[in-house]
Amino acid sequence: MSDKIRVLIVDDLPETRENVRKLLQFESDVEVIAQAGNGEQAVELAKQHRPDIILMDINMPGLDGIGASQAIGQHVPSAQIIIMSVQSEADYLRRAMLAGARDFLMKPFSGDELITAIRRVHTMRPAVREVAVPATTAERHDRGGRAPAPREGNIISIYSPKGGSGCSTIAVNLSVALADQGYKTLLIDGSLQFGDVAIMLDLKPSRSIVDLMDRMVDLDVDLVTSVLVTHESGLRVLMAPPRPEMADLVTEEKMKALLEILRTQFEFILIDNSASLNDVALSVLDVSDRIFLVTQQSLPTLKNVSRFFDLANTLDYERSKVLLIVNRASDKQGISVKDIGDTLKRPVIATIPSDEDAVTRAADQGRPLVTSKARKRPISNSLTKLAELTVTEFDPKKDIEDKAQKSARAPFWKRLFGFGRQSEAIGG
Ligand SMILES: Nc1ncnc2c1ncn2[C@@H]1O[C@H](COP(=O)(O)OP(=O)(O)OP(=O)(O)O)[C@@H](O)[C@H]1O
Ligand SMILES: [Mg+2]
Repeated sequence: MSDKIRVLIVDDLPETRENVRKLLQFESDVEVIAQAGNGEQAVELAKQHRPDIILMDINMPGLDGIGASQAIGQHVPSAQIIIMSVQSEADYLRRAMLAGARDFLMKPFSGDELITAIRRVHTMRPAVREVAVPATTAERHDRGGRAPAPREGNIISIYSPKGGSGCSTIAVNLSVALADQGYKTLLIDGSLQFGDVAIMLDLKPSRSIVDLMDRMVDLDVDLVTSVLVTHESGLRVLMAPPRPEMADLVTEEKMKALLEILRTQFEFILIDNSASLNDVALSVLDVSDRIFLVTQQSLPTLKNVSRFFDLANTLDYERSKVLLIVNRASDKQGISVKDIGDTLKRPVIATIPSDEDAVTRAADQGRPLVTSKARKRPISNSLTKLAELTVTEFDPKKDIEDKAQKSARAPFWKRLFGFGRQSEAIGG
């Protein structure tokens, strides 16, 4: 078989097929191996030729492009489908993506757009399915794990109600530090539209959360772990969708179902969230055992943080669920860390110093601070300490203490009618 990208063109109009073929004829790395005029023929030819890429029209008489994509997804999963459509409606795109298409082109498209899409989809095609092997406790100790083993399935959201506060920086470094200490750790890029995790860890986002969205019925551990990407630290990563408009393929119910399965496979699941809250983001915060709330010392950020605490109160989150982290901490500028803790009446569990040089270099090179040359810098130390504290936070012994504290809270009927709430209100 040649090294060329082997392409099948599917469209009911012979002129369209011919135009597409012509656009590709001078590309030395692409070979058009067959053409189909309808969905049924597309499925047959796909089975016979096993093309790398299928350029698929949506509207065809008989079996349409969406039905054909579904059938091909089952019979020839190695074939990557690019939808060609005149319909710009989100619904078409959504259905095509759910049917397993990897990308789409709006007709009319240029030769450049076509070849770029083919090469991109071909480069990002999923690797052979891999299955996670859970690290045993013995392995963990071999890797120098010192702290007590936490319960399984602890979910931690890294969140800030103000964009650009440092959630991704903290989420990436904290999860790499935990994986490096030998804990079975998963990082989910919950910035579904503009995720930064892939670039910060220098990982090819070949598979993403979107690959699971059309497979919710047969979702199981093997399938879920097959879309995770592995970082050299041992950290597993669930990538954000490759394109911003695919973010709304991820629904609240599906996210919840996914987290329930993943919870059984990892000791720590960290989610890097974006600032804006929609149903999916709220459901992630709901199921999280802890929310590490990232703040800075500026008034606008603290105003948003205070509002978020109001929301947390309305949602009846336990006080111990939301913990504060001050990022870009400085003794010289802004509101002091002590004042932040006092005003918000919540403990600040970590302060991460500002280090523009190290953070920018780490992100640009895709090398986390905690395992790179920068690991001796104060910022890396504070992130490694945060990892140690995270482990302690989930120490089963602490759970017992927390339960004892909870049982000392106001009785249920008082909380139901709002008595005792006042003293928990933020900033009040
Ligand atoms: N402790 C720090 N010292 C210096 N710069 C930092 C620090 N933390 C984050 N930054 C910088 O601040 C910017 C925002 O950081 P980051 O992307 O981690 O924030 P975010 O909360 O994930 O943002 P977004 O809302 O875009 O998702 C980046 O340019 C990052 O390099
Ligand atoms: Mg981010």
